[in-house]
Amino acid sequence: MDFPPGLVTRFQEAKQILVLTGAGISAESGIPTFREAQTGLWSQYKPEDLASPLAFNQDPKKVWEWYAWRRKLISIAKPNAGHQALVAMQKHIPAFTLVTQNIDNLHQQAGSKDIIELHGNIFRARCLDENRVLLSWDNKSDMPPHCPQCGGILRPDVVWFGESLPHNLLQKAFSAAQTCNLVLVIGTSGLVQPAASIPLVALEHGAIFVEINPGRTPLSGDAHYCLTGPSGILLPALVAAAWADV
Ligand code: OAD
Repeated sequence: MDFPPGLVTRFQEAKQILVLTGAGISAESGIPTFREAQTGLWSQYKPEDLASPLAFNQDPKKVWEWYAWRRKLISIAKPNAGHQALVAMQKHIPAFTLVTQNIDNLHQQAGSKDIIELHGNIFRARCLDENRVLLSWDNKSDMPPHCPQCGGILRPDVVWFGESLPHNLLQKAFSAAQTCNLVLVIGTSGLVQPAASIPLVALEHGAIFVEINPGRTPLSGDAHYCLTGPSGILLPALVAAAWADV
């Protein structure tokens, strides 16, 4: 595959790379992106109307049922060649930061390390009373489920519309943005803040900005390089061109 002149060298020479991923990197694993229509039972709802504190307060059972349905869809998905290429890239870069807006656990499954999950993880629940994070809970007898230790109501451990992102994670992401040589943005519509401003901060601090997406986004105009196409094809080709090991 031919890449724009100079691009492969940028990757080979980078000492610090920041990668930001969105739903698009998991599209080739069969997980619909956030802005695609929902299917089946839930097609009458918009994600924005279910993934919110208001929706949870009004009908926690319905919100949990929606998350159970999404968890089932996600749990049969496997990481794709794009996720795997990032694992290979990480081995070649002295300082590599992977920030994701995805809650699907596929970067972890592929073997990426130290992932900054800005929007949480669908396979975790959190207790509303004591903020305890759980990896398993009783989803069957009780709806909404309750914390086995304090009895508080559990919620999915994800960030909902209108909520703030975890401060410590944002700080890590923005501090990497200020020091990286190259920022690689993959499969995100660039519409949701504050994640969308991470590449712009990197750009302001002198980083090369590379975007991978089959379409154009509000960030495309700022990118030095826009690689147009699916990440499951482009990322392995890029890693193979730079380091010949994918
Ligand atoms: P979106 O669903 O908004 O955007 C997905 C992006 O992936 C689009 O720009 C597509 O063009 C691109 N895409 C589709 N197929 C692709 C492929 N094979 N390879 C690469 N890119 C592809 O998803 P996000 O930008 O991740 O927030 O959405 C960001 C946040 O908005 C989500 O985390 C969620 C949502 O509201 C919360 O839940 C808080």
